[in-house]
Amino acid sequence: MPRDAISTTSLPFPLAARGKVRDVYDVGGGRLLIVATDRLSAFDVVMTEPIPWKGEVLTQATAWWLPRLADVARNHLVAVDPDAIVDAVPGLAGTRETWSRRAMLVHRTTPFPVECVVRGYLSGSAWQEYRASGTLAGEPLPSGLVESTRLEEPIFSPATKAEAGHDENITFDEVARQLGPATADELRRRSLAIYSRGREIAETAGIIIADTKFEFGRLPDGRILLIDEVLTPDSSRFWPRESYVPGGPQPSLDKQPVRDYLEQLTASGAWDKAPPPPPLPADVVEATSLRYRDLFRRLAGVEVDRFSADIAAGAE
Ligand SMILES: Nc1ncnc2c1ncn2[C@@H]1O[C@H](COP(=O)(O)OP(=O)(O)OP(=O)(O)O)[C@@H](O)[C@H]1O
Ligand SMILES: [Mg+2]
Repeated sequence: MPRDAISTTSLPFPLAARGKVRDVYDVGGGRLLIVATDRLSAFDVVMTEPIPWKGEVLTQATAWWLPRLADVARNHLVAVDPDAIVDAVPGLAGTRETWSRRAMLVHRTTPFPVECVVRGYLSGSAWQEYRASGTLAGEPLPSGLVESTRLEEPIFSPATKAEAGHDENITFDEVARQLGPATADELRRRSLAIYSRGREIAETAGIIIADTKFEFGRLPDGRILLIDEVLTPDSSRFWPRESYVPGGPQPSLDKQPVRDYLEQLTASGAWDKAPPPPPLPADVVEATSLRYRDLFRRLAGVEVDRFSADIAAGAE
C-alpha cells in the first residue's frame, strides 16, 4: 500500500531541532512534537530519496516498545495517538496529514550529551576494538571470542554525541567525568535494564538485538527520562535469529540493501562516503521500505498501518 514519503516538514511551530531523521518542534507547555520523516542516513550521510513508511515504522516501533519497558524506564512519551495529540495541541489540527502516525508528543528535556550504547553481541566497532586490543569500551574481555559472539553480560559502551560526523566511543570513566559518577552510574544501570528486557522480548519474535543506543534527558524538576526513539531499526542492530551463526558478520534486518548498494559504489570508486549522497535506484528504495515494514511485522505481529499503540498498551 503506497504512502507518500516525506523528506522534510514545515509545521506552524518553532523548530527546536532538525536531526538527520527527525524534525522536532517546540509546541509549548514544556512539550516537543518529534516528527520522524522518511529521511535515511547511511554512513552518517542523509540520502536524497525518502523511504516510504520509514518514519511511521520508527515512531510506531517506539510506541510498541514503551509500554513493554515502562516498569524499567520512565520515558518522555505524552501521546502518539493523533486524536490525543490534537486534543493536547489544537494548533496541530491543520497539519495533521503531514505528521499523523509519524509523530510523538513528548516531554521536553535537556538531553545528556552521551549516546548510551549497550552491546549484547560482539559486532561493528566493538568487534574492531576487541580484535585490536582485546577490550570493549576499554574493559578487557576474555580472549578467543569470535565476531558476533553473544555476550552473556551485556556491556555498556557509551559514545559521544557528535554534532557532526561520526560518534566516538568513550570509556565509562569519561562519562563519569563529564556527568558525575552518580548520573553516569544511573544511565548505565537503566540502559542495561532496558536492553535486557528488550533482548528477551525480541528473542521471542525471532529477532536478535545485537546492540542498541539509548538517549536520556533531564526534566526541569531533575528527573531523568528515557527519550528519543527506542529499540528501532535505526537505533539498533537487528539480526534474524534463524540465520545467526557466530564467527562472522550477520545479515541485518534494516538498511542492508542501501548499505550494500553504497559499498558497491565505494568499491568501484564512484562514492567516497561523504556528502553529497549518490542517487538511490528505485529498487533499492523499495527493498529498504519493505525491510522496515517486515521488521515491524516480525516484532509486533501486525502490519504497521494496522497497529494502534493505545489499543496494544490497553490490552496488556
Ligand atoms: N524528550 C526529548 N527532549 C529533548 N530532546 C529530545 C527528546 N527526545 C529526542 N530528542 C532529540 O531530538 C533529536 C531527534 O532527531 P534525530 O534522531 O533526527 O537526531 P540525530 O540525527 O540522531 O542527531 P543527534 O546527534 O542530535 O541525535 C535528537 O537530537 C534527540 O536528542
Ligand atoms: Mg537520532
